[in-house]
Amino acid sequence: MGWLSKFFSRKDEDEDFDPSNLSLIEGGGSRVEDDRTSHFPRFHGSATDQLRGFRGGPEDRVRLKLRDAFTPAQPVADIRHLAGRTTVLRSLIRSLEDQRLHVVLYGERGIGKTSLLRALTELGQEAQYLVRYTSCGEESDFSTLFRSVIETIPLLYHADHDPTATEIEEGKALDSLLPAGTLSANQISDLFARLSGTRVLIILDEFDRSPHSGFRRSIAELIKNMSDRSIRVQLVIAGVASNLAELVEHIPSIRRNIFGLRVPAMEADEIRQLIEIGENASGMTFDAKAVQLITSFSCGSPYLASLLGQHAGMSAIDRGARETGTPDVAEAVRIALEEIEQRVSERSVETIRRAFAEGHDFALATLARIAMTHGGRLDTKGDEQAAACERAVLDAGLPYDLVVPVGKPEDGRYEFREEGLPTYLWMLIAREQLDDPLRAVARIGG
Ligand SMILES: Nc1ncnc2c1ncn2[C@@H]1O[C@H](COP(=O)(O)OP(=O)(O)OP(=O)(O)O)[C@@H](O)[C@H]1O
Ligand SMILES: [Mg+2]
Repeated sequence: MGWLSKFFSRKDEDEDFDPSNLSLIEGGGSRVEDDRTSHFPRFHGSATDQLRGFRGGPEDRVRLKLRDAFTPAQPVADIRHLAGRTTVLRSLIRSLEDQRLHVVLYGERGIGKTSLLRALTELGQEAQYLVRYTSCGEESDFSTLFRSVIETIPLLYHADHDPTATEIEEGKALDSLLPAGTLSANQISDLFARLSGTRVLIILDEFDRSPHSGFRRSIAELIKNMSDRSIRVQLVIAGVASNLAELVEHIPSIRRNIFGLRVPAMEADEIRQLIEIGENASGMTFDAKAVQLITSFSCGSPYLASLLGQHAGMSAIDRGARETGTPDVAEAVRIALEEIEQRVSERSVETIRRAFAEGHDFALATLARIAMTHGGRLDTKGDEQAAACERAVLDAGLPYDLVVPVGKPEDGRYEFREEGLPTYLWMLIAREQLDDPLRAVARIGG
């Protein structure tokens, strides 16, 4: 996503407006106004993101702003738009700065890992760290990835190398000291051991997307090598792995060099702040009931809050209002549900429909809520909530084959068979609550 947003980096300052940029739009304009095409739906905005000179009316300007204010498909790129998360950032910084540990940040899809990493990048740079963010992919190769990071570290920071003025001027980087070909974890840590005068944070996002165990093993070896030698480079690894074991399985002894941090669901206050930031950025307002509904329907997921915020705002604009209310949230839930349903298998959609029809909404709502607020985990052993979880697992989860056991059977731990199911279920419950509040309250218990 990082490269995509960079690729499409925008210019939206009014001052930069250049009417000649609009030639393409205007070129299509005559056709657009043609009677024969007037029944087609139209784009509301302009691809140039220019506000002044833009053909749309004031409504379209607000739409444009709203789209930038709530960005469900993109991580938060600017720390000023990051809601809450002060506790998580504080722990991250403490473990990096005071304990000099490497960090593994993990959590469900859409919980806000990349947004946090972007904020960490800004904060690290402010403290003069060299921060290098990379997103892993299926093709990630250890040697290529680290070479590309090393290419961006100026030679200036090598302890034994006193670069000549020309070398500095030429922008020579540490990679000029590396041999050609594949690099090993040893070679890289030897080079990192010679760093001085700076500290480097290497952020590896979407670590779970790399399927190669060789890649993971090399990262584990690198961490081991670096930790034994107190090197000025730290890794921050993020992924959806629901526990650390998967990431460190290769070298168990690196456990003590790593700080594992699960990104928790957001608190209600943090979700309210997310909506407030969206209000300020878009110039729209959300009435108290709308805020309350979005807070409860998002169940701590910033992704859902952002998705509902955007759709609800759009719905208000569509009816010519600037304040978003309950009917807009209802419309947002309907649209969000359609979107989310696409990401769930047909088999699950059908099974869930049956489970609802057979009166299991309470159990399904319980499972969805627990999964969403506990990083996808459904624990049936322990506290009072575990007892409720167990009843729901036995009532609907297992009979409808929606959940599967995790780990040893005696641990009594389950998770949803499909990653997108908790969100989908929760939106179904939200729709039910909006359509028929009394029935929903009776079944869900408030
Ligand atoms: N603290 C926050 N304040 C405001 N919006 C947030 C916050 N955290 C996340 N979001 C929004 O939630 C959505 C998901 O965030 P993000 O992409 O960071 O999650 P992720 O955990 O990296 O997801 P994935 O696992 O899919 O990579 C985005 O729309 C982002 O704008
Ligand atoms: Mg991400």
